[in-house]
Order: sequence, then C-alpha cells, then structure tokens
Amino acid sequence: MPTPRLLVVVGSTRPGRAGLAVGRWFRDVAEARGDFEVELADLAEVALPLLDEARQAVERRYAHEHTRRWSEVVARADAVVFVTPEYNHSYNAATKNAIDYLYHEWRHKPFAVVSYGGQSRGLRASVALRAVLTSLAMAPAGDVAVSLNESPVEDGVFEPTGVVVAAATRALDQLSALAPLYRALRD
Ligand SMILES: Cc1cc2nc3c(=O)[nH]c(=O)nc-3n(C[C@H](O)[C@H](O)[C@H](O)COP(=O)(O)O)c2cc1C
Repeated sequence: MPTPRLLVVVGSTRPGRAGLAVGRWFRDVAEARGDFEVELADLAEVALPLLDEARQAVERRYAHEHTRRWSEVVARADAVVFVTPEYNHSYNAATKNAIDYLYHEWRHKPFAVVSYGGQSRGLRASVALRAVLTSLAMAPAGDVAVSLNESPVEDGVFEPTGVVVAAATRALDQLSALAPLYRALRD
C-alpha cells in the first residue's frame, strides 16, 4: 500500500482558538515520523455553512461545491485525527456539522481524538465524538487528552507534557497499524 494519508481535522473555528496550535503540533509530530502523508484541515478555512444539502449524505449526490471539496479531502484520507475542544461538556458544533455533511467518506477508517479543555481535558467531548464516529463504522485507535491548564497555548504555540506526547505516539502507532487493514477492507 502507498504511504497512508492522515487527515488532521481542527474543529474549533473561533478567533483566538487554542485548537489550531494543538492541531499544528499534532500534524508536526505525525509528519516527523515519516509513516504518513499528513494533511491538516482547518474547519475555519473549510468554512462549511450549516448543512445545506437537500439530499442525505448516504446518497453521495452533492449539490454544492463546498460539499464536493470537503468530500474530496475526507475521501483521500486513510485515517483521521479529530482535534476537538470541549464546549459545554461535548464537542463543538462545527465538528458535528462537518461530519454530518458526509457518510461514505468516513466509513471504515481508523480515527483518534485529540481533545482539550480545562480540568476535564476535553474527555466528555472525546466520549461524545467517539459515539458518533463509531456509528459511522469508524474504528477507534486512541485518545489524546490535553489540559490547557497544564499546557496553555502561548503566542500560538502548544507545548505538550510528556504524558501527552506518549499518548500521541500510541495513537499514531495504532493509526499506522490499522490504516492498511482498513484500506484493504474498503478495497
Ligand atoms: C462555548 C464554550 C464552552 C466551553 N465549555 C467548556 C467545558 O465544558 N469544559 C471545559 O473544560 N472547557 C470549556 N470551555 C473552555 C475551553 O476548553 C477553552 O476555551 C478552549 O480554549 C476552547 O477551545 P478553542 O480555543 O480551540 O475554541 C468552553 C469554551 C467555550 C468557548
């Protein structure tokens, strides 16, 4: 199999967000390993409107160019990492909207969640997101949970703790192991 392609989705979209720094850190860690082609999708740039397709994604008949572009980005991924904030004890609305746009493009792909928040490290967001993704036949391959109290983003840079780095390595090892198996399943 060609080098698997890893898509890192940065879910938060608000000005001044921590998510972009966390997502860039994860992308850099993944790229440095050399076993993935890594692509970062920043949902602030992807800029999907609230779901505006008349047909359900399961039909894969898209009316809008923004949907076709998003479909291509997700379709070419062999594994996906969702970088999500915790908003009001769950993951954020832009992430759910981006998921709901598509169906087949997500299926039978391994995923990891990088969640972040205060004391909770975004774990409630992570658990809620995992339930949605497994319903799309995606396969859980690890969680990374970040406390912004321990590691605040400063000047746009995220400096992880050793525990977080170890969790990221485990998640990437799992994604690397599972990506070819799920590619074979899709084929
Ligand atoms: C709408 C909103 C709700 C939040 N709810 C939670 C929460 O439930 N738990 C938590 O740990 N932090 C919560 N926070 C704090 C966020 O973890 C923190 O602001 C973080 O930086 C948000 O990610 P972002 O900067 O990428 O948007 C909330 C922040 C916002 C903006």
